Amino acid sequence: MYRTHQCGELRAEHIGQTVTLSGWVQRSRDQGFMMFVDLRDRYGITQLLFSEEKTSAELFSQARTLSREFVIRVSGTVIERVSKNKDLPTGDIEVEVKTLEILSAAELPPFTIEEETDGGDDLRMKYRYLDLRRGPLQRNLIFRSKLALATRSYLDSQSFIEVETPFLIKSTPEGARDFVVPSRMNPGQFYALPQSPQTFKQILMVGGLDRYFQIVKCFRDEDLRADRQPEFTQIDCEMAFVTQEEIIQTFEGLTKHLFKAMLGLELSEFPRMYYDEAMRRFGSDKPDMRFGMEFTELNAVAQGKGFKVFDSAELVVGICVPGQAGYSRKQLDGVTDWVKRPQVGAKGLVYVKCNEDGSFKSSVDKFFGQEDLKAWADAMGAKAGDLLFVLSGETDKTRKQLNELRLEMGRRLGLMKAGDFKPLWVVDFPLLEWDEEAERFHAMHHPFTAPKKEDVERMLTGDHETMKALRADAYDLVINGSEIGGGSIRIFDRALQERNFKLLGFTPEEAEAQFGFLLGAFEFGAPPHGGIAFGFDRLCAVMNGQSSIRDFIAFPKNNQGRDMMIDAPSPIAGEQLGELNLEVTAEEV
Ligand code: AMO
Repeated sequence: MYRTHQCGELRAEHIGQTVTLSGWVQRSRDQGFMMFVDLRDRYGITQLLFSEEKTSAELFSQARTLSREFVIRVSGTVIERVSKNKDLPTGDIEVEVKTLEILSAAELPPFTIEEETDGGDDLRMKYRYLDLRRGPLQRNLIFRSKLALATRSYLDSQSFIEVETPFLIKSTPEGARDFVVPSRMNPGQFYALPQSPQTFKQILMVGGLDRYFQIVKCFRDEDLRADRQPEFTQIDCEMAFVTQEEIIQTFEGLTKHLFKAMLGLELSEFPRMYYDEAMRRFGSDKPDMRFGMEFTELNAVAQGKGFKVFDSAELVVGICVPGQAGYSRKQLDGVTDWVKRPQVGAKGLVYVKCNEDGSFKSSVDKFFGQEDLKAWADAMGAKAGDLLFVLSGETDKTRKQLNELRLEMGRRLGLMKAGDFKPLWVVDFPLLEWDEEAERFHAMHHPFTAPKKEDVERMLTGDHETMKALRADAYDLVINGSEIGGGSIRIFDRALQERNFKLLGFTPEEAEAQFGFLLGAFEFGAPPHGGIAFGFDRLCAVMNGQSSIRDFIAFPKNNQGRDMMIDAPSPIAGEQLGELNLEVTAEEV
């Protein structure tokens, strides 16, 4: 037997018992005539005692060969510790070892396997099996496992059934590139890995399944960031005969259930905000609601005073940073440089200090008198001691830049408090998004999203501004500034779906070739339906107050999309290429 107990299990009540434990050596302390070894497994740490007096010289010298990460089995007696460790659940006892067996020796690990590690990201991913031994990763994966179980049990209680959909499919347009898989049996043809099970879940509704969910891998070939992986997991859901309101209620219910079950937190009703309002007030469709610093548009009070930069701008907009009028010249220059970085892209930054004595000091005193600056401060609801930051330019760009600055100030001032959860539904997204480069419209959510009823007629007028103004029954769930989920009511009528494809620039032939199966299904009695998908990795991270999803995924990829442990992607043998009809000729190389 390898063990009678786990390493986190023994307590004072076990004193006197003979036990067997197995695990990894966390550390050993040699005190000459006594040796202490911390033995670790997933469940905890138990202190082992080797005493020269009480054990054979042979056992004692064997213990001396142990070093970090050796895997051992020991048997011995549970005894009371002389100096107890209140921080450790097993801290009242230790095991006086009688026999020791080294099951597996270990090289010195390339980074420390402790709560905090000194390993860099790529190193930790290369030796993922070592990183996975660390407490934080183990706790994350345990959290993830329990979150999946809680999700399944809640959705089951709401009559959802979990259905698996295929991975080898045809392209589903979710806005990223597809990963493709060559078909050996169909030379020159490819499958695509699903960016989401979108079309399949809609077909399941046409198939009468009524309520579907799946905790499912999705694959997207897109630029990677801390909250984006090329393969990630969704809680993917679809419901028939529902309105947007019922979907929002159902998934607000799921979210509340998960926060209660996992964190013991009762969330109150989630506020809702129109997309347009979110853009106007926060310059973002996923505002972090843990803090204020809302936007104030200043065109009315800041234009027409001879400051060309503002006068020529489409939008002049600012935020009021509470209590920071004391910012030094150096700090202000620092913030200005920050917004001028290419990642933010502002041309400059105007500041106004609202001094304690009621006067104002700004970077544009040449153009604006005290009365003017007071009008800005009043518009922004600023008090003495506050600091105003103002940006100007083309509306969309300026809002984006000020959103970045708002978030940065939130970070600098410690306003994004861990443990504070502020969910928000953002609703009524635009149907379309203009792609400057391609000079065409894309679906903002995806091409199966239903336009608002009142916008259906305007869909094909062709006028650019009308197209931009079309609204969809599409919604996102945002928590603490992170897009946790997105969904929509779907089109379930062939003619309307065709009209939408046309709007998106598909010829009828292209639409038929790519989505004929769905259009066909709509001709055989499709129920009204809609759904949502949560980013499961993101939900794990946000619930744990973290912005990166990597450590909630057992085997993540790095920013180049590489798996550092198995070294993928990698070239494949010429023979395999040949079988797949993918021979690379000398000229192509
Ligand atoms: P959407 O594209 O909004 O919707 O995706 C749903 C949620 O999935 C998460 N997510 C990601 N997480 C990690 N890495 C990624 N690369 C990544 N991309 C997306 C986000 C996002 O909110 N089929 C629709 C859903 C529907 O309409 O029902 C869809 O996939 O948290």
